[in-house]
Amino acid sequence: MTHGSQVTTEQVQQALGLVKEPATGRNLADLKLVTDIVVENGTVRIHLDSLTPITTHKQKLERDIRAALDTIGGIEHTVIDMRTKVRPSGSGRTDAQPIPGVRNVIAVASGKGGVGKSTVAVNLAVSLAKAGAKVGLLDADVYGPSMPLMMGVNERPLMRDNKIVPLQAHGVKVMSIGFILDPNKALIWRGPLVAQLINQFLNDVLWEDLDYLVLDLPPGTGDVQLTLVQKIPISGAIIVTTPQDVALADAVKGLKMFQEVKTPILGIVENMSWFQPPGQTERYHIFGEGGGARTAEENGVELLAQVPIEMALREGGDNGLPMSLSEPNSLTAREFMGLAEAVAVQLANQALTKPRKPTIMLKTV
Ligand SMILES: Nc1ncnc2c1ncn2[C@@H]1O[C@H](COP(=O)(O)OP(=O)(O)OP(=O)(O)O)[C@@H](O)[C@H]1O
Ligand SMILES: [Mg+2]
Repeated sequence: MTHGSQVTTEQVQQALGLVKEPATGRNLADLKLVTDIVVENGTVRIHLDSLTPITTHKQKLERDIRAALDTIGGIEHTVIDMRTKVRPSGSGRTDAQPIPGVRNVIAVASGKGGVGKSTVAVNLAVSLAKAGAKVGLLDADVYGPSMPLMMGVNERPLMRDNKIVPLQAHGVKVMSIGFILDPNKALIWRGPLVAQLINQFLNDVLWEDLDYLVLDLPPGTGDVQLTLVQKIPISGAIIVTTPQDVALADAVKGLKMFQEVKTPILGIVENMSWFQPPGQTERYHIFGEGGGARTAEENGVELLAQVPIEMALREGGDNGLPMSLSEPNSLTAREFMGLAEAVAVQLANQALTKPRKPTIMLKTV
């Protein structure tokens, strides 16, 4: 090819513009995802942002970009520089103040205790972080904080600029009320006091820069939970349940609580779906079968994941190394990664249809 017929940036721009972004199905031009194109001696360098940290999506996007450029001809090398740039969702209550630096808050909840909320929260957080997102995990369970044990960190956090610096574990910034309170003193506070504590806690943590903040909520649908979901601008909630009828009934209560406060439900995670003894192919549905799918359908939400009963999952929770990291190729870890991806896709779409309005920061001098 002669220099005279060299590829132009306009040609590249045009070809790229029609490529579809995998999470939203919208094209790169509409989404303004291409930040720079440099054409130099047959080499094309493209800088673009990805709306999610999802590896398979990034790979697909790269393949589609290369295919689109192939139609131009005359390009010897293509260099693609892709950065994850998760956009903030504007969903959730408009009267709740966004947490500084936090783009999306994901609440993990259930009306029922002991169904695996904390286990799901931890494995979701580490899966999102593993995919390359900037992730925080906030243990809002003042009555029985789980994160010190489940994430394997427990120190008194440092202060900077009058704020609490979260601890770091498995690539996730972690903050738990358990880091601050004496674990041996039972907390028998009433709702308003707890809400005040949580509120202060939210405003005083230096998250700095997060794509996703995963919030592990305490069980139930009482005052504490209600205040929490009203105070925090939650982008979406995940409801955890087992397939058992009693758990499902409580899960629906949890779901309704979020709907009442106009918080989108991302979907249901069915935990303890079955047990498959090691080396066997048969699955035992100890808590019943199909409850999660049925409840999801009845309430018009997605069934995001089904997690089996796993000894390793419980052990990972007890020794501070989540199974998503210790056994990344297990069915369970893949199920959690699927959950992380489904959540990232939903939030990317929310950020488009309901972007967060820019807040004007008033600085008093
Ligand atoms: N799929 C599973 N397989 C095996 N053990 C599990 C599974 N899910 C949760 N567990 C274990 O069950 C116990 C309760 O789980 P977890 O603490 O996550 O529930 P929770 O809903 O957060 O409870 P709480 O309501 O007390 O906050 C933990 O010991 C956890 O390790
Ligand atoms: Mg818990």
